[in-house]
Amino acid sequence: MKKLKLGVVGLSRGHAHALSALKADNIQLVAVCDIDRQRADECATLYGEGIKVYYDHRELLADPEVEAVVMATPIDVHAQTVVDALEAGKHVLSEVIVATTIDDIYRIGEAIKKSGKTYMMAENYCYIRPLLIVENLIRQGKLGDIYYAESDYLKDFQEYHPNFPNIGGWRQKTYFGRRGHPYITHTLGPLLHIMDEQIATVSCMAAGRSFDMVADNTATLMLETNKGHLIRLRSSFVSPRPDNVTYYSFQGTEGCYQAPQGPQDYHKLYIRGISRQGGWNAPGGWNNVYEFKDTVPEEWKKYWNPEDYPADLKDNDTYELYDSGLLMMQEKFADCILNGTPVPVSFEDAANWTAAGLLSADSVNAGSKPIFVPSFKL
Ligand SMILES: NC(=O)c1ccc[n+]([C@@H]2O[C@H](COP(=O)([O-])OP(=O)(O)OC[C@H]3O[C@@H](n4cnc5c(N)ncnc54)[C@H](O)[C@@H]3O)[C@@H](O)[C@H]2O)c1
Repeated sequence: MKKLKLGVVGLSRGHAHALSALKADNIQLVAVCDIDRQRADECATLYGEGIKVYYDHRELLADPEVEAVVMATPIDVHAQTVVDALEAGKHVLSEVIVATTIDDIYRIGEAIKKSGKTYMMAENYCYIRPLLIVENLIRQGKLGDIYYAESDYLKDFQEYHPNFPNIGGWRQKTYFGRRGHPYITHTLGPLLHIMDEQIATVSCMAAGRSFDMVADNTATLMLETNKGHLIRLRSSFVSPRPDNVTYYSFQGTEGCYQAPQGPQDYHKLYIRGISRQGGWNAPGGWNNVYEFKDTVPEEWKKYWNPEDYPADLKDNDTYELYDSGLLMMQEKFADCILNGTPVPVSFEDAANWTAAGLLSADSVNAGSKPIFVPSFKL
């Protein structure tokens, strides 16, 4: 099988990318890079012989053997490093979010157009197993027409960060230094990826001021899609409760899916005509999503290595397996370049999702006014 020759830049999140790329059937890891020399050298020893190590992303980008790069640099330098990669003629799998300003999103769009190279945003949450089962059922029409969806991204940095509220790095600026929900793509992305829609407007309300930071304790977004459907999102980085970064729900004309909202919960599905029917003062019953796990296409099952999953699938498998979609996402990216298949998380979509998050700050600052979210056509 032909393999895409890949470089990885930024070896914190990029370390997970590099380890996964080594398992991919259609990728050959050829080079890695981090400005932190010690980190770069230590990581490289784990990848085996023959992987080139660079300490400046421009040096890796000048390597003619590298065809494509994973750009896993901190969020606030994405725009520059992604543009550098496109200008160097490399295909890019960029970590989330696209960029931190609307101007930088347009700048990346221009660079993609000029280079003619493939850009995909690395939204791995689109490929977690319960969502793949749900995606398949929705594509088969089992839930009818989806008119409402929701998702939460809830963490409690007070509980586990030793220096809270000074958590440092890009997370300080992104999670605590902005209002609204800038780190939006893990919540919004999987919903819109399945619904195949874009955001038209965003309205945001936020509440709670317990800390000396720009961000509110929590923000709730109401988003209208270009097809007139409704999405609700909630984000928080300081709420005492069990973390949950993979809560998703879809409501359709024939059924409903609700992910676990924390431990002691499970992936619930109601399909009219299949699930236990309700009646007056009798609410009907959920099915477990995993009852439908064999309905997905055969080629998806190769990513479901039983060793990677707990034996009892009825338990909550969300948080600890949030990254279970990494390999499938990487192989899909490589397939776009090697075989010309459509880019599953395209610039147009990723830019629209990212912009909805950035503009949610404008909405909350304007008294929750709905803000128009652009569509970024290349
Ligand atoms: N999809 C996911 O589940 C997931 C999880 C974590 C992080 N991320 C994303 O990955 C990106 C990086 O996050 P992180 O947590 O790894 O950040 P980090 O700050 O922990 O690490 C960034 C790494 O990049 C290196 N670096 C910085 N500038 C560089 C440059 N110009 N060239 C080469 N190396 C450079 C740093 O030395 C550091 O090792 C962010 O976009 C973040 O949103 C995604």
